[in-house]
Amino acid sequence: MKPMVLVLGAGSGLGRALVRFFLSRNISVSCLTRSKESLTSLMDESADFKSLLSATAAFDYCDRILSEEFVRRLVSGKESTDFPGLAIYCAGYLSGRRSLLETPVEDADREIDVNFHAPLYWSTILSRHFLERGVGGHLFISSGVASTLRSSWGAYGIAKAGVEALSTQLSLDLPAPLFSLSLNPGGMITRMRQIAYPEEKRDTLPAPETIGDKIGRFCMERLLGGGRAYNGRRLTVGDIA
Ligand SMILES: NC(=O)c1ccc[n+]([C@@H]2O[C@H](COP(=O)([O-])OP(=O)(O)OC[C@H]3O[C@@H](n4cnc5c(N)ncnc54)[C@H](OP(=O)(O)O)[C@@H]3O)[C@@H](O)[C@H]2O)c1
Repeated sequence: MKPMVLVLGAGSGLGRALVRFFLSRNISVSCLTRSKESLTSLMDESADFKSLLSATAAFDYCDRILSEEFVRRLVSGKESTDFPGLAIYCAGYLSGRRSLLETPVEDADREIDVNFHAPLYWSTILSRHFLERGVGGHLFISSGVASTLRSSWGAYGIAKAGVEALSTQLSLDLPAPLFSLSLNPGGMITRMRQIAYPEEKRDTLPAPETIGDKIGRFCMERLLGGGRAYNGRRLTVGDIA
């Protein structure tokens, strides 16, 4: 079966690096960005790989109507194999690194919506389609603040802990060969990292492309076409390097 990956949050950082990785390995990709600008620049830089780009769209992935419409597009793909065998949840939002007490309620809500509610919703709908096809899995991009809650990570930390719980729950509910796992990518120089640590020197951490190569290779070697051995795992990038 022709492998295909769905990258949610492909506009920048790790998601974008993963799209580049898969296209360069001849893997079909379907992707979602939030802003039209980031989708346009992604399409421009991927012009040589047009035939590998399946459904693409730019919208807020917390929007349930647009999300459902997008999944319908995936389901009605040209071929029965045109449905992702792996969904990677990269989209993330951090309003700032601060305590819950200092975070405006609407910012905390948004962090929970983007980092937890949307993955919960998407993974539930996608799981039903994986079940029908008898193939498919979820890779949730987590964070170090999920396994050990730390001061000043507020609603973002809570949402990431929730995503790890979501992945574990799915792993218990999905029958073989379906699977779900989470992966903490570790620190990377991205837009989100700059929001968390504005003073940090840019050369002290890896670029998202470096981490994207490791995660992309792991997906190709271990997950695409059979990730059940990793079902329920909560990995860090050190586990796969
Ligand atoms: N950077 C780190 O050090 C670090 C460490 C641990 C975990 N992580 C995790 O790694 C993942 C990738 O983050 P990153 O560091 O690569 O940050 P990033 O460059 O800020 O990328 C975040 C991506 O999420 C997309 N996004 C945000 N809200 C969205 C929404 N409502 N709908 C659709 N897409 C949305 C953005 O799209 P647009 O570009 O279109 O706005 C952007 O492409 C996140 O889950 C983050 O929590 C990062």
